[in-house]
Amino acid sequence: MTKHNDSVPDPQDDPQVVQPGDGGVPNELPHHTALIDRHGILERNATLLLVFSFLVVTIGGIVEIAPLFWLENTIEEVEGVRPYSPLELTGRDIYVREGCYVCHSQMIRPMRDEVERYGHYSLAAESMYDHPFQWGSKRTGPDLARVGGRYSDEWHVDHFSDPQSVVPESIMPKYDYLLRTPVTPDHIHDLLATHAIVGVPYTDEMIEAAAADFRVQVDPFGDYEGLLERYPGAQVRNFDAQPQLTEMDALIAYLQMLGTTVDFSTFTADASR
Ligand code: HEC
Repeated sequence: MTKHNDSVPDPQDDPQVVQPGDGGVPNELPHHTALIDRHGILERNATLLLVFSFLVVTIGGIVEIAPLFWLENTIEEVEGVRPYSPLELTGRDIYVREGCYVCHSQMIRPMRDEVERYGHYSLAAESMYDHPFQWGSKRTGPDLARVGGRYSDEWHVDHFSDPQSVVPESIMPKYDYLLRTPVTPDHIHDLLATHAIVGVPYTDEMIEAAAADFRVQVDPFGDYEGLLERYPGAQVRNFDAQPQLTEMDALIAYLQMLGTTVDFSTFTADASR
């Protein structure tokens, strides 16, 4: 007597493979031998898979990187963008030294909320002379890429001396010591020369005149024609309203020119250049 057990299937009941040509109704497609089916070999062989993955990534990398060797410039040049004047460059150094980039970005992204709040989105050319760039990745405070001209110099002096005096809810720290720290053009010659080494087009004439240009930018009664020729649009005035030339002067000179060099009423993006 055979004991009937439902839970153990009888192998005889298994469906049999019937391929076309076997006679009967085919229930299985013919075995493929196309190239794509050989992929199984790769999937089962870790070393081979590594070698081929490496090949694929290498080809992908070359396709992306190689054109850059033949492109003269990846930055579209934009009218108005110029190297920083000696005083602005000093202010920029103070900005970096004080770590302002920890709380402030300098890059307006091409999205509606950004453009409505801060102005035209940032162009690559606008930071082409920045070494290192100040795009930043953290916005505890607002973006500063176009802060130039948004506030008066007095506002900046008040704000840096005591941010809560003008924005009561501000968490920005005080930088009142900038107003008491004199700044001299002792190293300005070397600073410009160093930037020239990394590709900023400071001419010998600009480097030669650096110290004089540095001083004359805070002296509206001085002979600043040369400065304006070398750095078109540079703003000349006593930024901190003190007789002394201080770090506050330099920092405000820098902030007041941020984002002001390109005339966006005439600017049209030209991707073909
Ligand atoms: C701890 C973060 C923090 C640091 C560091 C910081 N800020 Fe701010 N900053 C803020 C905040 C928050 C605001 C917005 C409130 C206000 O206006 O004070 C602000 C506002 C500003 C504004 C006004 C911007 C606008 O469009 O209203 C300027 C300009 C500015 N900061 C410059 C600087 C500079 C220059 C430094 C470095 C010397 C600096 N900040 C360092 C947090 C910071």
